[in-house]
Amino acid sequence: MATHNLQNHTLNGDHCDSTVPSSKKPKLSSPATTTTIISHSQIQSEFSHHDLSIARINNGSFGSCPQSVISSQKQWQLQFLRQPDHFYYNQLKPGILHSRSIVKSLINADHVDEVSLVDNATTAAAIVLQKSARSFYEGRYDKGDVAVMLHYAYGSVKKSVEAYVTRAGGRVIEVQLPFPVKSKEEIIAKFREALEKGKENGKKVRLAVIDHVTSMPSVVIPIKELVKICREEGVNHVFVDAAHGIGCVDVDMKEIGPDFYTSNLYKWFFCPPSVAFLYSRKSSGQDNNDDLHHPVVSHEYGNGLAVESSWIGNRDYSAQLVVPSVLEFINKFPGGIEGIKKRNHEAVVEMGEMLVKEWGTHLGCPPEMCGSMVMVGLPVCLGIYSESDALKLRTHLRNNFGVEVPIYFRAPKDGEVDPVTGYARISHQVYNKVDDYYKFRDAINKIVSDGTTCACLPN
Ligand SMILES: Cc1ncc(COP(=O)(O)O)c(C=O)c1O
Repeated sequence: MATHNLQNHTLNGDHCDSTVPSSKKPKLSSPATTTTIISHSQIQSEFSHHDLSIARINNGSFGSCPQSVISSQKQWQLQFLRQPDHFYYNQLKPGILHSRSIVKSLINADHVDEVSLVDNATTAAAIVLQKSARSFYEGRYDKGDVAVMLHYAYGSVKKSVEAYVTRAGGRVIEVQLPFPVKSKEEIIAKFREALEKGKENGKKVRLAVIDHVTSMPSVVIPIKELVKICREEGVNHVFVDAAHGIGCVDVDMKEIGPDFYTSNLYKWFFCPPSVAFLYSRKSSGQDNNDDLHHPVVSHEYGNGLAVESSWIGNRDYSAQLVVPSVLEFINKFPGGIEGIKKRNHEAVVEMGEMLVKEWGTHLGCPPEMCGSMVMVGLPVCLGIYSESDALKLRTHLRNNFGVEVPIYFRAPKDGEVDPVTGYARISHQVYNKVDDYYKFRDAINKIVSDGTTCACLPN
């Protein structure tokens, strides 16, 4: 088998590459030294619960959690079960505060009160969008005032915008993004157009919901530029949906400057399901923090979102408590989370380029617009002509070839000759090996050489 460069900077050497520059972010514990760097076999054993028969190149959907963090989670669960009252009165709140303070430092927030831990990005979206809904119902916003969001916003977030903003009287304008995308300027131009449209007839753009990394198709959005434009154009609030944020792209609240920013911690930050953070800026001079509430109201209602979120009734809070153990895990890698992110990016781009070269297609965006996921054009002869075809191919790859990868259908534009209509979203995380991508390549090559098209695949 051909030796690919990936081997140098991922798993096939005994140790990870220690040449990665250390993180710009505050050091939260001592960085990995040559004596503490995690080895190839230790990484394998941290993820030994993964099904080895599957080439798992879809970290983006559900993330991954190493054994050491799973053990820590079990310890927290046992502490609760051993003496629940002691746990509730003495351990839960300080434990969550500790996790929040680590996140606060990692994302360069001003204050720990700006960081709340919630279950997932969908919950965070509900928190922000319910606040907007109240502004309509309570007369601070006029009927027909606007919320702008990307056409490629995640399905659950789109539904939430419909449920909270549209029903409250808001008008939603979607930013139509090109795909494949060639440059960030294309996105910026479309975003400006949508803001202009929003301001027609004297209406105000009250909210911009912007993905940091879109899910499908996956592209890194020029978030700093878009937030800046929102400020210049007087948009009241900017909510960044960075479900794929921390561990996948740069997440620095001072550099990005959003009002609200959510990132899952279970996707690219090795937490178990399910935990995310929601950042809400304190120093904006607006009423960001005061009127944010967890959708599940409990005893702490009115005590600030972070405190409300740390007790929403009796349940398992262990996923929120393991953040210190995650930090210990990631600090075994050179450069910590920054180093992991950099190596994943380089590896996924390298694998994406290897695949498009094999199939004579192209990536869905330039490498600098990818994080740890890349859209890879699939051979045209597969006949991917609908979302249902894309799903059939995905299922076929899972069931018959042991490859787990999401497939995207792109409707062709009028007049396109032999358009690429199917793309695979490949991910790279520390447990991936070059063979995972070769397995995917070989599976597609076999399907093509057998003359199988999506039309032949079962529903
Ligand atoms: C961009 C984006 N937003 C929101 C979500 C929803 O995340 P969750 O299911 O954790 O709520 C996802 C999930 O993949 C996503 O990709």
